[in-house]
Amino acid sequence: MKKIIIANWKMNPATPQQALRLAREVAHGTKDVKNIDVVLAQPFIFLPLLRYTPYAVRHPFQLGAQDCFWEKVGAYTGEISAPQLKALGVKYIIIGHSERRALGETNEMARKKILAALALNIKPVLCIGEKEKKTDEVFPYIIRNELHEGLKNIKKSLLKNLIIAYEPVWAISGNRSSHADTPQNVYEMSILIKRELYRMLGKNIASRILILYGGSVDDKNATDFIKDGAVDGLLVGGASLNAKKFVRIVKEAAKL
Ligand code: PGA
Repeated sequence: MKKIIIANWKMNPATPQQALRLAREVAHGTKDVKNIDVVLAQPFIFLPLLRYTPYAVRHPFQLGAQDCFWEKVGAYTGEISAPQLKALGVKYIIIGHSERRALGETNEMARKKILAALALNIKPVLCIGEKEKKTDEVFPYIIRNELHEGLKNIKKSLLKNLIIAYEPVWAISGNRSSHADTPQNVYEMSILIKRELYRMLGKNIASRILILYGGSVDDKNATDFIKDGAVDGLLVGGASLNAKKFVRIVKEAAKL
């Protein structure tokens, strides 16, 4: 399966000019990379700009969003629907990121957003992960619960388009005392997630679901997670705002 590297720009950069520059540098730097899908999950407001500005490079990135609303249309002030994103060429939507969960997003809300994306053939990237690093049984339980609740009653055949991002909250940069997970732990968690998906969905579907790691990924540790962590790609926050670092991550991953 093709690996995938998703840049999560979060609420950055500050201006359209900066967004365009960053996107251009990434497009230019990754134009010869063939075996990786590069996705820029950016603030909604930059999507039209990046969609309609020509890049003059052969290998552009795919457009991604960081959230969506589950209703298709109507009186929902401030929300953005999946069809609106689809119309702008969005192929991936990050759903249930821990920073959104911290603002009140529940598993049920994530579930409805996943459904909205899948119905339009957009790939949802469901983020799951424990808040604290503990060695007991608690965090496997949290992961299982997020999977079961987030995917409840969704037709199995639709879920082949799902992507799971394992992002332990304590590893996400920006949190005080955050630090990257170890490839060994990521390996164990990706096996746990895979096993759970096999149990829930059967081999046919589960084997098609990509599993990513996210949390303080940079150009120094990125390949270790793919090599030793048994993941299919990465969700990169902070380091994706630095075009040089992000391009290096993509290029190094492409060599594996
Ligand atoms: P980080 O963020 O790479 O800055 O830790 C990852 C994420 O929150 O998706």
